[in-house]
Amino acid sequence: MDLTTTYMGLVLKNPIIVGASPLTASFDSIKKLEESGAAAVVLHSIFEEQINHESHELDYFLFKGSESYAEALGYFPEVALSNIESGHYLDEIRHLKENISIPVIASLNGVSKGGWIDYAKRLEEAGADALELNITYIPTDADVDARDVEQLYIDALSAVKANVSIPVSVKMNAVFSAPAQMAKRLVEAGAQGLVLFDRPVHVDIDLENLNALQVIRRSSSYELSETLRWSAILYKKVNASLCASTGIQNHEDILKAMMSGADAVQMVSALLENGEEHIATVLEKLTHWMEEKEYVSIEQMKGSISLSHTANPAAYERANYMRLLTDYRF
Ligand SMILES: Cc1cc2nc3c(=O)[nH]c(=O)nc-3n(C[C@H](O)[C@H](O)[C@H](O)COP(=O)(O)O)c2cc1C
Repeated sequence: MDLTTTYMGLVLKNPIIVGASPLTASFDSIKKLEESGAAAVVLHSIFEEQINHESHELDYFLFKGSESYAEALGYFPEVALSNIESGHYLDEIRHLKENISIPVIASLNGVSKGGWIDYAKRLEEAGADALELNITYIPTDADVDARDVEQLYIDALSAVKANVSIPVSVKMNAVFSAPAQMAKRLVEAGAQGLVLFDRPVHVDIDLENLNALQVIRRSSSYELSETLRWSAILYKKVNASLCASTGIQNHEDILKAMMSGADAVQMVSALLENGEEHIATVLEKLTHWMEEKEYVSIEQMKGSISLSHTANPAAYERANYMRLLTDYRF
């Protein structure tokens, strides 16, 4: 069975990439992921604050609406902010490149056009095979225009692209008014990959302490919906690789992602839940399913149920499918 796929020009032995998370924060864990069959890893993010914590631009965005950076802060490790960390991240990449053979994708998480952009070049020099940008900005200021927010993403991407020659992807969030146009603009600005989608840290309220909270919950396959919808819509519409992320738990989710038009998938929650060895089980089941249905390769199924190929485009296009709603019985 040919499980190979190409993601941003990188040839992967199968579609499973391990997403940015604590799983990709230590050499031992990454080694186990490789042994279990992972085709590539996205390293835990290095945050703008860790690279350039005195950036005035960062202050501007952080304090313009202090909740704006909620997601990034939710992931942010509670360690002293220091440029030493950014040096350590580069060492991690060098060490990985000497000791593992799967592609290593570095992850940069930031929003301003500050010093972290230059750091992209150092990630490339350290040996990263590609870069994933997680540009997270939640505009809480009602006077901030949507177009300006979008431009922030484009500017950050363009600045990174001007500094590196390795492929760059953007981990998009799903809440743009016009995601297809945003995807197109990102690709025009140089993104070779779009990760669909980032999964925001959850907001909750602590009823004991009467305070707002941020929590990280593991995903489930139910969350695959928007990823499938937008992979299906963007398939062949943008000249970039698509990576399904959020809700990929098992071989069935991978099959659905490939059929909707994704080139690869990212997995995190399922591996936190079941351990690194889950990858081997999933690959075995994936191969078995494909053999039974007489597929010979992943390439063969890519986009086979995308918007342009499905017999039921309304499933992707219509937010409220009238018949489904009116026929619903409880
Ligand atoms: C504990 C934890 C830490 C994460 N850290 C990062 C991170 O550093 N950078 C990032 O871009 N995404 C991070 N994520 C998000 C994941 O990469 C992924 O996008 C998200 O979990 C959805 O995928 P899943 O449904 O397979 O879990 C993290 C997720 C979890 C659960």
